[in-house]
Amino acid sequence: MSDRVYNFSAGPATLPESVLKQAQKDIWDLFDTGIGILEHSHRDAAFDRVTHETEADCRAVGNIPDDYAVTWVQGGATSQCYFVPANFLPEDRTADYFQTGKWANDSIKEVPLYGKVHICGSSKDTGYDHIPVGDEVKYSDNPVYVQFTSNNTIMGTEFQTEPTPPEGAFLVADMSSNMFSKPIDVTKYGLIYAGAQKNLGPSGIVLVIARKDLIAEPVRELPMMMQYRNHANKEGRFNTPNTFGVYLMGQVFKWILERGGLEAVREMNVEKAKIVYDFLDSQDFFKPHARKDSRSMMNITFKCPTPELDALFVEQAEKKGLTTLKGHRSIGGMRASIYNAFPKAGCEALVAFMKEFAHEHAGAVNA
Ligand SMILES: Cc1ncc(COP(=O)(O)O)c(C=O)c1O
Repeated sequence: MSDRVYNFSAGPATLPESVLKQAQKDIWDLFDTGIGILEHSHRDAAFDRVTHETEADCRAVGNIPDDYAVTWVQGGATSQCYFVPANFLPEDRTADYFQTGKWANDSIKEVPLYGKVHICGSSKDTGYDHIPVGDEVKYSDNPVYVQFTSNNTIMGTEFQTEPTPPEGAFLVADMSSNMFSKPIDVTKYGLIYAGAQKNLGPSGIVLVIARKDLIAEPVRELPMMMQYRNHANKEGRFNTPNTFGVYLMGQVFKWILERGGLEAVREMNVEKAKIVYDFLDSQDFFKPHARKDSRSMMNITFKCPTPELDALFVEQAEKKGLTTLKGHRSIGGMRASIYNAFPKAGCEALVAFMKEFAHEHAGAVNA
């Protein structure tokens, strides 16, 4: 793995090495124009090509039909917390939300500015350790849409399949931390958004995939920049976009296509996650946070028997080139983020270190 370490950061996160090398070249000179990608106007021919290729490759990766818009906006995934209800939710109507962690809660908090919110399923009482399914899910009467966070980056839980909204409601998903990590049926959704900084590229750009009829007109008057249709109708260039972000997402889409698409990506991710989960299941020193039926393939959360040992684990791992394993402050412990571009060898190295650490410290704990 050259001179790089294994970076388990939750985002911004590890990107494919081949993409970074291509970007090094293109920062200097894109398409033999004598101008680098960071210096090209967002209205010139080179950036036309970047825009069109990024959109086309995104459509190819996600098998996205023509009645869906593919666009991108700024403001991070956090801005989507208000974009969604502002565009879709009339004042006297209700939207249903799954409460599965911090990112879901951030969205839920914004809804009362625009309309009514109903929590249709929550794992708050058990520390967000699972995804509510079956009897735990109760939709409101006639919601406009149902929103869920497909992967909970902090807790390490993931919807194993998308919820089925009640008749007449459409599905909205925050896919920031598992976008394009496995095959997806876009036609089940009204709108999907994903901050790019985990599986797609750099921070500061959000991929939006939306049913065109839904974004044709917002339900209320909104500032220009808050209307999805303005971004979609102008190829993501309503104002000056994060041009480098558009370019880099495009390179990542090409990388996915070269690897054989989302089915191949899923296989790779299953194999990587299995290395860590199989080890977790084989011992009782480390305790996983997520319930087995709700485990994330992208973010694996676990703890040592004490917070002191957690701190020591993170410190010693760092010295071995296994970096950024500290868990989010809200749950503590460790989090190994192993997005699409994270190498399998890094998962093996993590497990080797976990074994060594458990062996060394299990005695002290049991004494
Ligand atoms: C699932 C999810 N949603 C939303 C966000 C917020 O993204 P941003 O910081 O780009 O606003 C994150 C950030 O990590 C996330 O993991």
